[in-house]
Formats: sequence, structure tokens, C-alpha cells
Amino acid sequence: MMSTPNTSASNRLDGRVALVTGAARGIGAAIARALAVEGAAIALVDLLDDVHDVARELASEGYRTHAVAADITDPAACADAVASTVDALGRLDILVNNAGVVRLAPAEALSDEDWDLTMDVNLRAPFLMARAAFGHLSRSPAGRIVNVASQAAVVGIDQHVAYCTSKAGIIGLTNVLAIEWAQHGITCNAVGPTVVLTDLGKQAWAGEKGEAMKAKIPVGRFALPEEVAASVVFLASDAAAMINGHHLIIDGGFVIQ
Ligand SMILES: NC(=O)c1ccc[n+]([C@@H]2O[C@H](COP(=O)([O-])OP(=O)(O)OC[C@H]3O[C@@H](n4cnc5c(N)ncnc54)[C@H](O)[C@@H]3O)[C@@H](O)[C@H]2O)c1
Repeated sequence: MMSTPNTSASNRLDGRVALVTGAARGIGAAIARALAVEGAAIALVDLLDDVHDVARELASEGYRTHAVAADITDPAACADAVASTVDALGRLDILVNNAGVVRLAPAEALSDEDWDLTMDVNLRAPFLMARAAFGHLSRSPAGRIVNVASQAAVVGIDQHVAYCTSKAGIIGLTNVLAIEWAQHGITCNAVGPTVVLTDLGKQAWAGEKGEAMKAKIPVGRFALPEEVAASVVFLASDAAAMINGHHLIIDGGFVIQ
């Protein structure tokens, strides 16, 4: 008989190991912290060397961490990041595909380079990471993938042609992994934040444009990194074992209008 899942609100991830991409700052750093607070050991992966500082800070608070500075658009780097995580932390249960970029331009003016970079980081890399992690996730008692999508996956946003397309694509990736890998004990879900004023968020939404966007969000504010992280923790936990292929929108009611 199945054991009762741990649905309590603390230590939900004791004994688990999570890998978070784009963990050097912004939403990824908040996700890494939130997963650690719930008991998971954390591998932090990022292009920026700052990822080592974020890992050291968590380690100084008593959390188990492993840092990898890597470019996840490179398939070999993805495989290495997964392998070194398992070497350092013993296993892998949770993959959070969070790293992302935005390149803004009217569709007719977006360069090939900006289109390709956006697709490579936001869409191809989550696939590469998931493929590299599959064997380990399938050996976990509760394999989890959480993809950080966006409200931009479900609505068009001015100047965001590559970004919106990449985020719509990650929903397709989420759906297919959810149905193919459920038989291997892995669920795959996505979260879809509205604007969060991180470095990435500020590129599009600093100043007047942001105020106009904020006015369209029913709750009247942007999301906080910690609010996105709380949803990721939930989807990674045993409480979400029956949730598979869902895109959890965290937008204060923006996209339902
Ligand atoms: N900020 C927002 O308004 C917002 C809204 C919805 C969704 N999101 C999504 O949330 C995720 C995190 O965004 P954020 O706002 O924290 O951005 P951020 O720019 O603050 O952080 C993104 C991190 O990803 C890393 N990264 C970029 N390319 C990489 C690569 N090739 N290899 C490894 N790491 C790489 C960066 O170095 C950076 O540390 C992204 O997927 C983004 O699309 C953000």
C-alpha cells in the first residue's frame, strides 16, 4: 500500500537533493533558499561565478550546497552539472529549470542572435537539463521537474516575441515530460510568474512601462521572488504528487482578464 504523503508545511523536502539553474541571483536564488529551508540539499548552477557566493552563504547558515558555474546551453555542461551534483550530494530528486534571458525588440527588428540565445537558454537548456537528469530523477521516490515559465507563455507581450515563444514552448516541454515520465515516478510542472523586479524584470518593466503594467494586475503589485519560490517548493513536495503537467500562474489575476 502507498505510504501517506508528507503534506506538512515544514521539512517537506528532508533528504531530497534539488538542482536549480540560474541560481546566482533573482528568482533562482530565492528558489534555492526556499528549497534548502524545507530540508533539501541544493546544487546551484549558473553562468555567473557569483553562484559560488550564493552557495557559500547558504552553507554558512548550515544548508548543504554544491555550486556549479556553467553555461547550460552546452549539452556537455548540463551532463557535467548533473554528474557533479550526484557526486557531491549523492542523488538528484528535483530539477528546477529557472535560468532565463529576455531580449526586447519589435518582432521585425529582433536579431537572429537574440532569437537564438533566447531559445537556447529558455527552451533548449531546460530540455537538455531534463534529459541529463532523467536517470537520477527516475531513481528518486518522488522525482520532480519544475520549469519556470511565465505569464508570457499564455499572453502576447509587446517587444517580447522570442521570450513569449520560448515560454509557450516550455509549456509544451512540460506537457510531454509530464505524460512520458509519470511512469518513471517523475512529475513535471511549470510556474508562470507575472513581473518580478529582478535584473531580468527591470529590463522590460522599470519605470513608467512597469507602472502601466502594474495597473493592469488586479492585486496591484508585481510578484516577489519568494512568492514564486513558495509555489516551486509546493510543486516539488509530496503534497503535489498528483499534480502533473500543470502551469501554475502566479500573476495576481493578470491573465484571466
Ligand atoms: N523577472 C520577471 O519578471 C520574470 C517573470 C516571469 C518569469 N521569469 C522567469 O524567471 C526565471 C528567472 O528570472 P529572473 O528574473 O530571476 O532573472 P535574472 O536575470 O535575475 O536571473 C537569471 C539567471 O539565469 C542565469 N543564466 C542566464 N543564462 C544562463 C546560461 N546560459 N547558463 C546558466 N545560467 C544562465 C543568469 O546568469 C542569472 O543568474 C527566468 O526563466 C525568467 O524568464 C521572470
